[in-house]
Amino acid sequence: MTQITIPRPDDWHLHLRDGEMLKAVAPQTAQHFARAIIMPNLVPPVVTGAQASAYRDRILAALPEGSTFEPLMVLYLTEDTDPKDVAAAHASGLVKAVKLYPAGATTNSNSGVRNFDNVRPVLEKMAEIGLPLCVHGEVTTHEVDIFDREATFIDTVLDPLRKATPGLRVVMEHITTKEGVDYVSAQGSDMGGTITTHHLIINRNHILVGGIKPHYYCLPVAKREIHRRALVEAATSGNPHFFLGTDSAPHTDDAKESPCGCAGCFTATNTMQLLAHVFDAEGKLNALTKFASENGPKFYGLPVNTNSLTLTKKSETATWPSKIASAAGPVTVFDPGFPVYWHIEN
Ligand code: DOR
Ligand code: ZN
Repeated sequence: MTQITIPRPDDWHLHLRDGEMLKAVAPQTAQHFARAIIMPNLVPPVVTGAQASAYRDRILAALPEGSTFEPLMVLYLTEDTDPKDVAAAHASGLVKAVKLYPAGATTNSNSGVRNFDNVRPVLEKMAEIGLPLCVHGEVTTHEVDIFDREATFIDTVLDPLRKATPGLRVVMEHITTKEGVDYVSAQGSDMGGTITTHHLIINRNHILVGGIKPHYYCLPVAKREIHRRALVEAATSGNPHFFLGTDSAPHTDDAKESPCGCAGCFTATNTMQLLAHVFDAEGKLNALTKFASENGPKFYGLPVNTNSLTLTKKSETATWPSKIASAAGPVTVFDPGFPVYWHIEN
């Protein structure tokens, strides 16, 4: 097959930031995607319905003229989050999920959750109203090796939390391990898992062999090849538990190429071309529709987009800018390290 047309894809995990960075990166996602779940880890975080509404307005203002891109807003769960505010923001249609960051797990997660008992009332309200919880699935315990933090989180936090809150819809985000794939697959339809573009492409050798590659560093960090293979098999299986969440996370080059570089891969620009390559290489191009366009809306109870995106495989390589300019500085676009022949037609 050299051409595929899919319903317009959505991104179920995206960082758009704010200010000058937002203006630079929002058009990149809006080029190819109809909707995206917008991460709330700004400084200060997007905690209340009022903050989400104001942030949504800033996103819409940053879109190109005539864009129909729809930001799906998310509240940042803190130990002070008010269940009534969450319920009102959901009832108004503004908010589509709540995000759980274990405190200290990643970029701007300091306002996240330390004591899970303190967020029980919010989780119970969310289970009652059917509002999904998006989870950054890593423990932050110093003694736990960074490569084991996802698997440990499943056993010690995620599974107990789900058992204590029956009916809560949960997305385990950016899964990076076979354990993550196995856990999510074994659950019912109240559990989903997002997979990023970069975790389908790189393993930990790509980050560390032959010199340290700061633009491949993200959290959760890429794991061994057996885990990458498990992710590729899950994404290309068509299994409704799994859908695309790019975790495209822009940082300026000076923040990435630093003695203490930030975590995040910026893939908004070339995700769809890269996914077509990965699915084609597996002989599973037809499963791209489910992964990028159907399974996510189904989990969130939203309609599949009615417009489409066409990708064509050509003899010449696909190109994209290597960096996106922003007034805050350049942002490097994820480089898969191999030539890609899939081009976007519309
Ligand atoms: O690599 C990451 N970057 N992982 C996250 O969880 C957060 C994100 C960011 O905001 O930069
Ligand atoms: Zn993220």
